[in-house]
Amino acid sequence: MSNSTISRRRFAQILGVGAAAAVVRPTITFARSPAPAAVTGVIRLSANENPYGPSAGALQAMNEAFALAWRYPDEANERLIGAIAKLNGVAPEEVLLGDGSSEILKVCAEAFTGPGRPLAAADPTFEAILNYSTARGAQVDKVPLTQTFAHDLPKLGGAAARGLVYICNPNNPTASITPKAALRDFVGNAPTDTMILVDEAYFHFADSPDYESVIPLVKDHANLIVARTFSKIYGMAGLRCGYAIAQKQTIAKLREQEMWDSVNCMALAAATASLDDPEQVPAGQHRNKETRDFTVAQLETMGFKSIPSQANFIMFDTKRPVVPLIAALKQRNVQVGRLFPALPNHMRLTIGKRSEMEAFLSAFRAVAQA
Ligand SMILES: Cc1ncc(COP(=O)(O)O)c(C=O)c1O
Repeated sequence: MSNSTISRRRFAQILGVGAAAAVVRPTITFARSPAPAAVTGVIRLSANENPYGPSAGALQAMNEAFALAWRYPDEANERLIGAIAKLNGVAPEEVLLGDGSSEILKVCAEAFTGPGRPLAAADPTFEAILNYSTARGAQVDKVPLTQTFAHDLPKLGGAAARGLVYICNPNNPTASITPKAALRDFVGNAPTDTMILVDEAYFHFADSPDYESVIPLVKDHANLIVARTFSKIYGMAGLRCGYAIAQKQTIAKLREQEMWDSVNCMALAAATASLDDPEQVPAGQHRNKETRDFTVAQLETMGFKSIPSQANFIMFDTKRPVVPLIAALKQRNVQVGRLFPALPNHMRLTIGKRSEMEAFLSAFRAVAQA
């Protein structure tokens, strides 16, 4: 019996002996750390995914969760909410789970933008919420990043009056941060009827002394919402689980917009087990930094400079239009980020495994010289 298979005895414990005896269960075994390129022939460095996948504990927890797939996931919900609340030093009522942090972004747009309630966001940034707000009939204002690729907080605040300001920190696609002192001042001084959503999807990869999470500020600011995800450092992008931290009454407003039971039992089990694993976060941080430093240095040797990265991807200056380069790499089965119109001569590149980055570098060397 391996660790990643589920025994009849375990089902008996979970279901009660009678139920277990009546059900013939398949034995399911999860592959560890799949090698996607070996399966598809494609090196995918386009979506800022974690190439190492979920932790062993998360895979085991999912295996066990099959036994409860027939129940609505109320208890599993509560367990994860409790663990997230403890991790972040907040009350369970200050946590809302989402079907990925994408659902959190969507319910924020639905609760706090619309006609007369604009959205302000950086340009470039992660654009999902721009689409959600546009669909709500909200005016959407894009404010260029500063020279140092930080959010221009005064301009964003001005544009978002009585609406919502979206701050992605670290920012996708530039991998840059907005310094902690500026963000703290902004949150401290924003009018209370301007909602502030800080998206910390890449929080775990940031190690600059100039970076911090704003979760500790939530207790003093009812207009602050922080979004986090299990898709990045926890390697669960395909499972879909994220969350929001905000004051109780703000969470209640978001919950009104949310689908009931939107996170499935597999994702809940995997996320809860991930938080119990003391290894995954430091190991992921270490591997990402090492492979990112290697990639940045190699590109630099070739004459291509990257924006300093605080994430699991980099944005580097291609010194020419990126679109033909993206197409040429695709021909060689290497997928990289799309065009971001605000930075037409930059390529967004996810940090995969070392072997994937070596494959990228050799393909890029060929297409950049062509
Ligand atoms: C900044 C940012 N926020 C949110 C998301 C959505 O993540 P998910 O819905 O998988 O939690 C992404 C995905 O890449 C992202 O880059």
